[in-house]
Amino acid sequence: MSLQPHGGLLVQAFDPEKEITTIHKEIELDAISLSDLELIAIGGYSPIDGFLTQVDYESVVEQSRLASGVVWSIPITLPVTKEKASILQPGDEVKLVYGDEVYGVIEVADIYEPNKRKEALLVYGTEDLAHPGVQKLFDRPAIYVGGKITLIKRLTQKFPAYSFDPVETRQLFADKGWKTIVGFQTRNPVHRAHEYIQKAALETIDGLFLNPLVGETKSDDVSAAIRMESYEVLLKNYYPESRVQLGIFPAAMRYAGPKEAIFHALVRKNYGCTHFIVGRDHAGVGDYYGTYDAQKIFEQFTEDELGIVPLKFEHSFYCQQCEGMATTKTCPHDSSAHVILSGTKVREMLRNGEVPPSTFSRKEVVDILIKGMSKEVVK
Ligand code: ADX
Repeated sequence: MSLQPHGGLLVQAFDPEKEITTIHKEIELDAISLSDLELIAIGGYSPIDGFLTQVDYESVVEQSRLASGVVWSIPITLPVTKEKASILQPGDEVKLVYGDEVYGVIEVADIYEPNKRKEALLVYGTEDLAHPGVQKLFDRPAIYVGGKITLIKRLTQKFPAYSFDPVETRQLFADKGWKTIVGFQTRNPVHRAHEYIQKAALETIDGLFLNPLVGETKSDDVSAAIRMESYEVLLKNYYPESRVQLGIFPAAMRYAGPKEAIFHALVRKNYGCTHFIVGRDHAGVGDYYGTYDAQKIFEQFTEDELGIVPLKFEHSFYCQQCEGMATTKTCPHDSSAHVILSGTKVREMLRNGEVPPSTFSRKEVVDILIKGMSKEVVK
């Protein structure tokens, strides 16, 4: 397994010296395009070096590939209003602005109207506006602008101690002497089931890159700040320090299930991972995807095309009869012996100050969640 970035070359498009005084047109970014801008520039989305042009966009939506044939499953787009689009032309350099700050520049290659219904159906598998990713897709402006970007200002990181660019994580992994690295995506606190599959992977893989997503998530997901605290306490108490690296993934969550699982894996490849954990209903929401759809989609591509190996895990749980974590692959008992709590149920318990069982979540993690929830309610 090679540590090649996806498509061969790690994109580097940060240039704080870039001359912008002669550029007068501006595009206002939203939180998603701001985080995408930075991720493109630091190589997280290699080989993508800008917001998708129409040919790439259509190819990604229809075939989960860039026009070059390289696998890519989530369209990285820059939406603008029709009014804004009417003053833009191919060839323009345009400042990319968030708040009062200029964060980057795009060389406009094209301006096009996407078929969002098609994007919803093919990327998210549904047009249902109750799906948070689909709702976001339709909420964003109607016209897309494609073209190469330059980042001229880094975003202020909320978690500087855990912010690493792909170049840095690659170096960190090499310094630790890890030859195989398994990436773990999460938007949740790490519960016993997550810990179980991470540690199962660590039995054969050199190092774990715990890479929580801290960009925009839906409002009822636990906030990134609370989650970061919970990861710290968990790692300190239950993981060998030399086998784990915690680092944030600053992207927005799309909730696109299978398509997002491919995207999550490819980005972790760019961060230097050789393997990637895909458990049950990865990046899913509600009942939009089958429990293992996000694992099955990997079969559509060859190992070479992906360049990162998915480690697929069954739904895991604590079994009271086995007295340990297990899956149906390893446990013969029926579900009455299994401790399985839904995210909604756990959030409800935490909000009421109730402690979920230690067979579901470590006590140290629960303490932080309860403390954090009460703070959030007070806010
Ligand atoms: S995600 O939306 O960011 O993917 P989450 O934080 O819930 O979701 O999960 C992180 C990873 O753990 C995903 O790969 C998911 O499939 C896996 N996972 C979560 N819960 C379980 C479980 N009980 N058993 C097996 N895998 C799980």
